[in-house]
Amino acid sequence: MAARIHNFNPGPAALPLPVLEEVKEEFLDFKGSGMSIAEISHRSALFEGVLNDAVKRLKRLLKLSDNFRVLFLQGGASSQFFMIPMNLILEGSSADYINTGSWAKKAIKEAQILKKAHKVIASSEDRNFSYIPKGFSVNTDAAYLHITSNNTIEGTQWPSFPQAGNVPLVADMSSDILSRPFDAAPFGLIYAGAQKNLGPAGVTIVIIREDMLDPASLDIPTMLRYSTFAEKNSLYNTPPCVAIYVVQLVLKWIEETIGGLGVMERLNREKADLIYNFIDRSEFYKGTADLDSRSAMNVTFRLPDESLEKKFVADALKEGLGGLKGHRSVGGCRASIYNAVGIDAVRSLVDFMKVFAEKNG
Ligand SMILES: Cc1ncc(COP(=O)(O)O)c(C=O)c1O
Repeated sequence: MAARIHNFNPGPAALPLPVLEEVKEEFLDFKGSGMSIAEISHRSALFEGVLNDAVKRLKRLLKLSDNFRVLFLQGGASSQFFMIPMNLILEGSSADYINTGSWAKKAIKEAQILKKAHKVIASSEDRNFSYIPKGFSVNTDAAYLHITSNNTIEGTQWPSFPQAGNVPLVADMSSDILSRPFDAAPFGLIYAGAQKNLGPAGVTIVIIREDMLDPASLDIPTMLRYSTFAEKNSLYNTPPCVAIYVVQLVLKWIEETIGGLGVMERLNREKADLIYNFIDRSEFYKGTADLDSRSAMNVTFRLPDESLEKKFVADALKEGLGGLKGHRSVGGCRASIYNAVGIDAVRSLVDFMKVFAEKNG
């Protein structure tokens, strides 16, 4: 078998090895059909079995009540930036947004482009998005409050979700969905591109409360309405079958191999503590996020200068540690330690960081 590296990519990102092995094992002949999953009809009982199992597992893992629907869409999390205001901000209403980073800004920009009424009620842009804002008040008549639960680029994460009373929370959970348990009741809509914690790129999960399904207006094109997909169990048109299949296997892995989101959170905490504790004791590495806002998924840090950062990323790769370059918009280094990244990978990274600091500090 080809050697696999420790993969700290921000997305597409590491997938659980048992999932990849299962894909390989059944790729040429899916469940005795004599065809691969990429070749069967999306209307076949075999594929519908995969889709329905994925929905059931996601609902169980997140303990979703019956009034939530799980949809599989395309267009990436980025398409949700416009579908949400298009579908949920009705004539005469307005939505609240919290600006915690580059992805939140992109979500806000789409509401602007659509000329939908919205207010940015809090922002952490004043300090390069290094923290999660506190002490804001939500407009009681807002259509929703949009947050980004984990800021992939800046390395911050909501430690707990904001209290918004009766205003439904709408969350971009692209980079931390299924990393920890949470109460879904205050949420009207949760969305996530699959390519970090859920599976491969190509499918976006939308979890929507039934009362949020009514389209703002029938002027919305069919493919951009949530109700289109809710009414047809995500099979209005041809869905990304292979991506959905891998998501189903990842969900099965979290449920059956890991043992659910409580255990997943503990494992993620262990990994994050290992690396943050090391950074905090070091004079060489410096974390970029405030302590109470740090992400357990994307650990962002700086070295004394940019040339050392470049060398760090290159030398790490030579040691089999990949994907450590920070996002091009902020620079620095970033270790993405999503669900499928094991503690062994993080231990190897910390060992490498020690040696690198000794040699170059
Ligand atoms: C928090 C967050 N939102 C949205 C996106 C964009 O996702 P997509 O590429 O699926 O449109 C990303 C991608 O990295 C992300 O991290």
